[in-house]
Amino acid sequence: MTKEELRSEIRDGVEFWGYEAEGELIGVMGIQQVQDVTLIRHAYVRTANRNRGIGGTLLSFLRRQSTRPILVGTWKAADWAIKFYEKHGFRLVSAAEKDRLLRRYWSIPPRQIETSVVLAERK
Ligand SMILES: CC(C)(COP(=O)(O)OP(=O)(O)OC[C@H]1O[C@@H](n2cnc3c(N)ncnc32)[C@H](O)[C@@H]1OP(=O)(O)O)[C@@H](O)C(=O)NCCC(=O)NCCS
Repeated sequence: MTKEELRSEIRDGVEFWGYEAEGELIGVMGIQQVQDVTLIRHAYVRTANRNRGIGGTLLSFLRRQSTRPILVGTWKAADWAIKFYEKHGFRLVSAAEKDRLLRRYWSIPPRQIETSVVLAERK
């Protein structure tokens, strides 16, 4: 993401949180309140620091900030990310529900709707 894209996301209400170790930023995750739901946006942990629980720690922290239903959108092809969210209590919603949710809560072009999935908290 470019600096300008980052600024634009922040202007649109995405609140970014970071995970630091020894003064270095090694993970980020955003949270965005949209209408009656909370979206988890832009999860990213530095390659060398993955699979050590940092993404899970950030996700648990962000989930505690919200009392609304939480949704996550990611790419259909991102098996690793889907597994990550499933491990943390999310489930993939049906194709029809996904299309409805992406149109309602995200501002993305039709082409990206086709290549995306949505996960919702199991509860
Ligand atoms: C998704 C991401 C944020 C997870 O962060 P993390 O710190 O590695 O996650 P945790 O260590 O808390 O959890 C690891 C779990 O995630 C899943 N996972 C993470 N990387 C994976 C990979 N390369 N392949 C398969 N599963 C993976 C597994 O379920 C793993 O559980 P396990 O340890 O029982 O196998 C991180 O992999 C990442 O930054 N990926 C690139 C960016 C991305 O895809 N972001 C999500 C799009 S919204």
